Amino acid sequence: MSYRRPTGRRKGLYDGVTDELAALMRTGWADSQQLDLAPEAQAPYAAARRDALSARFPGERLVIPAGTLKIRSNDDLYAFRPSSAYTHLTGDQTPDAALVLNPMPEGGHEPVAYLLPRSSRENGEFWLNAATGELWVGRRHALEEAEQLLGLPCRDIGNLVDDLTTSSVPTRLHQGHDAALDQRLGTDPDRDTELGEFLAELRLIKDPWEIEQLRFACTATTRGFEDAARDLTTAIATSERWIEGTFNRRARLEGNGVGYGTICAAGPHATIMHWVRNDGPVRPGELLLLDAGVETNDLYTADVTRTLPISGRFSPLQRDIYDAVHEAQEAGMAAVGPGARYRDFHEAAQRVLAAHLVDWGFLDGPADRVYELGLQRRFTMAGTGHMLGLDVHDCAQARTATYVDCELEPGMVLTVEPGLYFQQDDLTVPAEFRGIGVRIEDDLLVTPTGHVNLSATLPRTSTEVESWMAALTD
Ligand code: GLY
Ligand code: MN
Repeated sequence: MSYRRPTGRRKGLYDGVTDELAALMRTGWADSQQLDLAPEAQAPYAAARRDALSARFPGERLVIPAGTLKIRSNDDLYAFRPSSAYTHLTGDQTPDAALVLNPMPEGGHEPVAYLLPRSSRENGEFWLNAATGELWVGRRHALEEAEQLLGLPCRDIGNLVDDLTTSSVPTRLHQGHDAALDQRLGTDPDRDTELGEFLAELRLIKDPWEIEQLRFACTATTRGFEDAARDLTTAIATSERWIEGTFNRRARLEGNGVGYGTICAAGPHATIMHWVRNDGPVRPGELLLLDAGVETNDLYTADVTRTLPISGRFSPLQRDIYDAVHEAQEAGMAAVGPGARYRDFHEAAQRVLAAHLVDWGFLDGPADRVYELGLQRRFTMAGTGHMLGLDVHDCAQARTATYVDCELEPGMVLTVEPGLYFQQDDLTVPAEFRGIGVRIEDDLLVTPTGHVNLSATLPRTSTEVESWMAALTD
């Protein structure tokens, strides 16, 4: 673990703490213990997820670390984001923690969340340790409080290594989140990989609580796009940075923040898939591709893209390209439903784009040949979508058979996001196409009868986009 309980007075800046000051700091603090806390709404769902994990690995100890604090520069830390598997199984978001499922002789597992306890007043940690001391970073829940909130036994993280090493139970570790634990426990990469795959696959089908999270993420994201569209005049006077700031403020206000780096790409930057520098000009007459998602306080993210005409109206060529992408998205969305193959929506959308590229004369047809050879990918670049949830590209460690080769099931949430990207230096297309990028991305929940578009409140057709922008800026 990265956390080490301070053993004495801290060196450096804190040299010179006198015994008198240490004594003064130790006492005179009110007891703030909170009793009778109600369990978090997610607690029963997290318990059901742990039960599924327990059933998959009988008789084995499972260790799922939250992850550790990371230095950004000198003593400044990145904002902490727990591993998605850890928060999925506990509802907790604290750093330097771990969930352990201990196999029981009678079958099943007993879960224990190992957490950082409240700062000690005795050894001065609360005011001498700037990384974890509560006087520096804010109050944590006492272990007894966390037990009530999370609905599972909690223990001091300081006991973790001893608890794991004093008995020789076969153990699997979710590797890649805590370097010290990886080194100590990660002895069987294949078995640990199996655990990682299962943890990802456990998130393929969202439970009702998760679906509400994603609904809210999409609703808040809609408000962020409205803010951004209203701010285009200021963006023209400044840069892409303004729109990034506008969306990110909404995300911070309504949730934890953004679920991934906001892509705010004006003009030719829209042809760069993950343009997150966001430092370019916003010019009238060009397009602005905004790919952004609000992440809820419980860390579920939306992932939505709209491509907006900066002046409020598409030029005829921009509209042609936009409408081709919209047609592809319609075809892709029509292929999303229970029993459809995951690959179907990708194929449906890509075939439409291939046909347009042939019609425009950029690829030699027929379109079926173009699709079979994948030639359209010069202009479509990425896949047409992905699973969505705690991670923007959720369940990425799942096996091919359960994800890419799966049949869709109710409760899955995925993006459908076709795009066309004509690079500025692409000599195979006419000059007027160069530097134009369009993507339309929505978040779909697979239902027993088809799908629901969770981001449907944002306009999708070129005409609807124009009317929406006009209404917002009236
Ligand atoms: N919206 C970011 C991505 O899907 O890669
Ligand atoms: Mn996406």
